[in-house]
Amino acid sequence: MSIKVWDYLIEYAEEKKEILSAIEEVLDSGWLILGQKVKDFEEQYSRFCGVKYGIGVANGTDAIFLALKALGIKAEDEVITVSNTAIPTVSAIVSTGATPVFVDVNEDTYLMDVSQIERMISRRTKCILPVHLFGQCVDMDEVNRIAEKHNLFVLEDCAQSHGALYKGQKSGSMSDISATSFYPTKILGTYGDGGMVITNSEELNKKMRRLRFYGAEKTYYAIEHGYNSRLDELHASILLRKIKHIDSYIERRRQLAFQYNDLLKDTDLILPYEAEQGRHAYYLYVVRHPRRDLIIEELKKRDILVNISYPWPIHTMSAYSYLGYKTGDLPVTEKVANQIFSLPLYPSLSDSEQKEVTDVLHEILKQID
Ligand SMILES: Cc1ncc(COP(=O)(O)O)c(C=O)c1O
Repeated sequence: MSIKVWDYLIEYAEEKKEILSAIEEVLDSGWLILGQKVKDFEEQYSRFCGVKYGIGVANGTDAIFLALKALGIKAEDEVITVSNTAIPTVSAIVSTGATPVFVDVNEDTYLMDVSQIERMISRRTKCILPVHLFGQCVDMDEVNRIAEKHNLFVLEDCAQSHGALYKGQKSGSMSDISATSFYPTKILGTYGDGGMVITNSEELNKKMRRLRFYGAEKTYYAIEHGYNSRLDELHASILLRKIKHIDSYIERRRQLAFQYNDLLKDTDLILPYEAEQGRHAYYLYVVRHPRRDLIIEELKKRDILVNISYPWPIHTMSAYSYLGYKTGDLPVTEKVANQIFSLPLYPSLSDSEQKEVTDVLHEILKQID
């Protein structure tokens, strides 16, 4: 039996009728771009997050890029973020012309070490961009305290944290503007690409709507320079069906995570740390071991496929060497990148598949002891 780190086919079989009828509804409606489905989904997703406005865009990378543009981030500016993230967090900053500035991460949560932010602030710093990686929120009280003190914007990257909580507040609701992705693997994912920006600011909402639509408010007339980045009706329609299940998706993810905790508690794997003040949504179940590569190889031989998010910190990639970082600059980020890997976890993973994963892991860990 092959077990993948992520697989949508079982979920699709269960939801097939719903998904196909969502697609059919759009195709039969005569309206494909920026219609009622996008409006409804923007309304429902922003309400789910406890935020006033949602603006659907083409993907999560565009969501970050356009949110930064809406904040007025430009070439001379610096944006403080982490190197332990998906490439798009950083590529979106670079696309605005601004410079990403990295702080290290905490060794327990793998999230932004907020105690390092203040010393990285310069005259050019305009924004802090925390990434709620793996499904858990950054310490947002501290991020917002620093931002207020230094008059900086805050943009949350919520691509991996749909429905995660920090002190009772939903991810995405604790900053000036936030960005998310509905890429298929995400907690709320569509069958293709999609993204959204959410904000409580009417001004940023209006600006975002122009930026995603050639800089126009009405067809054929640009008020400012803009782009084309729209969530389309098909994906909005699918997401409207899927958002009804979001709480049960998260519940099942948490159940699987707790089961993993229990099944692996006697091993020398370092298991995920869930901070007390939040609710981890377990986008990924990330474990750590110094002999990670050997474990992954052995799992693969037994047809269990795991993933590494992420094997290369952004500051060590050739694309970003011009930023001037060198190995050793972010020691915790670099250390964990060599040791972490994610076990299969998605709502349709069965308990027996999970047990198979942990049985095999026990065997391998005993072997290499
Ligand atoms: C943390 C993070 N930010 C941004 C993105 C970008 O999203 P997308 O792939 O929809 O462009 C992703 C997803 O890949 C992500 O994981």
